[in-house]
Amino acid sequence: SLDPYHVSEEFGFILPAPLMPLLNTQLLESHRELRLAHLALGVMTMGYVWQEGEDDTVKMLPRNLAIPYCEVSQRLGLPPILTHADAILANWRKRDPQGLFDMENLELLVTLPGGDSVRGFFMVTLLVELAAVPAIKSIPLVINGVQCGDAETVTRALEEFSQAIQGMTDALKLMHVYVKPEVFYGIMRIYLSGWKDNSSMPAGLVYEGVQAEPMEYSGGSAAQSSLLHCFDELLGVKHEAMSGAFLTRMRNYMPPSHKRLIQDISLQPSLRGFVQQQACEPLTAAFQLCVTKLLALRNYHINVVSLFIIVPAARARQLRNQGNISQEETVSRAPRALEEKGTGGSDIMSFLKTVRDRTRDVFNLK
Ligand code: ALA
Repeated sequence: SLDPYHVSEEFGFILPAPLMPLLNTQLLESHRELRLAHLALGVMTMGYVWQEGEDDTVKMLPRNLAIPYCEVSQRLGLPPILTHADAILANWRKRDPQGLFDMENLELLVTLPGGDSVRGFFMVTLLVELAAVPAIKSIPLVINGVQCGDAETVTRALEEFSQAIQGMTDALKLMHVYVKPEVFYGIMRIYLSGWKDNSSMPAGLVYEGVQAEPMEYSGGSAAQSSLLHCFDELLGVKHEAMSGAFLTRMRNYMPPSHKRLIQDISLQPSLRGFVQQQACEPLTAAFQLCVTKLLALRNYHINVVSLFIIVPAARARQLRNQGNISQEETVSRAPRALEEKGTGGSDIMSFLKTVRDRTRDVFNLK
């Protein structure tokens, strides 16, 4: 008999009736297991949705993906789409566990089309998160200092804080070393985009077996990083109508405990009020340096976005107007729907500039 060889009488080497199993999420227990599942299902989902490009997009995510993805998402309190918390925060390992947390020793767990530029984009963003750690740690010191009326402690903590923001800007500079603008623009971005505020998926996406009506979720955005939300709440940066609403909505794309930290910072007595009231020169200088550094970070980010989105978008438009549809240049492969939008769905430049301008507003302490 051919049975012991897994060779079928009827089908030969063909596997009879291949299964399409529904993944069971019950065995996932720890937070880290759930985060890995959310990341893996997210990357599969982005691949499924976008692999054929922006035209004739799929209407439905098959149940085999949709059901486990929604189960895991619900348990984590995250939306069923790839987020910053997945692709960046939960997507790294050290090659040598004893080695440094740096570009040479880090690799991605899962990746998307775009080769080394994907690794570069995700890892540089991760290094920005790492550079921010001293700033995060200084936040409770600032808050306690304000509560105790201890201007000296607050001053020292703010000095630490501003240095860390400088470190974030320095880390962000590595984008130019590790990411090719035409690959980022022409190949990667579509896989980070979502099905809300996106003209190529105006109706959203049906998660089969979960809900009959389509659901809309925003694509990935740096606005999903909790860092700048924490900083803005601490320094008293207030965002306005449209950009404010977008930023508030992005908090629902963060792990709920991180969102809670932002909210708790926002409930503290005003640091800016304390600085004004103390009228103490070193404290004022330390506060203003924080605002200066945050402004510089946002301005630098605007430059990065110009180089990686605005310039390649202009080139793509130019090629199109010349009637060059040969797609010889990588930028021509980019979806048109994302030409003026961030992958999160914002009107990218006006959003970033408004947010930058509101940062400038807190500078004046008079
Ligand atoms: N949010 C980034 C973009 O718009 C990834 O391309």
